[in-house]
Amino acid sequence: AIFPRREIRVKGAISMANDTARNVGPVILLGPPGAGKGTQSKRIVDRYGVPQISTGDLLRDHVARGTELGLEAKAIMARGELVPDELMYGIVANRLREADCQRGFVLDGFPRTAAQAGWLDAFLEKEVFDKGSEKRSDKGSEYPQNCPPVVIQLLVDYTQLLLRLTGRRSCPTCGRLYNIHFQPPLVDELCDVDGSKLVIRNDDREEVISGRLAAYETQTRLVTDYYRAQRRLVAINADRPVEEVTAQIFGVIDSHGNDSHGRVDTRSGTTTQS
Ligand code: AP5
Repeated sequence: AIFPRREIRVKGAISMANDTARNVGPVILLGPPGAGKGTQSKRIVDRYGVPQISTGDLLRDHVARGTELGLEAKAIMARGELVPDELMYGIVANRLREADCQRGFVLDGFPRTAAQAGWLDAFLEKEVFDKGSEKRSDKGSEYPQNCPPVVIQLLVDYTQLLLRLTGRRSCPTCGRLYNIHFQPPLVDELCDVDGSKLVIRNDDREEVISGRLAAYETQTRLVTDYYRAQRRLVAINADRPVEEVTAQIFGVIDSHGNDSHGRVDTRSGTTTQS
């Protein structure tokens, strides 16, 4: 009776090892503030070994360091508005060119406007797929990132979003996310991992939250329209416990690229083309 269980464990370990070695390509998580993009990105990082690229985190880092970009972005972010597209392109391009993005990456918070979506397509085409075909013919091997993006939209009820945003706490040391309503820390206001005092994000104040949700409605909805028109959008019900949402996302990523165009078969599983 021991052998089958051991076999399952070995198979699980092999499958995990394959996941962290294989070509995942770009994964784009779309969804309103509080939809769980950051939470789910971290789980994708753990499972597939690709980096999370959160434009919100990149901007907050610039704000904290007081860079020129940070100084420009600070007031805009505090109002819950979007930072101008032209300021975003440089930081995203620089990050995507880093070596750890070669097998793929998770974009969390980008693109957020239709213009950003068009820019990203052009960037990937030029810097990833073009280079991919050059490298393949040069070296006769598969360029790791030659895989089209999978675009996953997280759908969550409005009232749930408000609870998630007002209840969010994060660890300033390790970045772990908590929620006083849904995922509280073991000890009130302290990180389970390193004991740091948890912090509330500056833009999670009630008066800013409505502005962020409005910016999503007016601008980021156009991004979902953009990908829907290309039949690349996979919408999932993210109004479920974290683990269930993660399982749906892994299912989408694992089935991605199964057809010749790299599009997900939206007729199967829990995913739907919306
Ligand atoms: P950004 O940092 O990207 O924030 P956001 O899009 O508003 O998203 P959030 O980080 O608030 O939510 P999330 O979806 O990641 O949810 P999370 O996992 O944390 O952007 C901040 C600002 O930067 C923008 O307003 C803008 O000014 C600027 N900016 C960024 N990118 C830009 C761009 N491309 N262009 C222009 N400007 C840009 O979860 C939220 C909470 O819910 C947590 O407490 C979590 O524990 C909990 N939770 C998560 N999942 C579940 C679940 N399934 N059940 C219960 N609770 C859950």
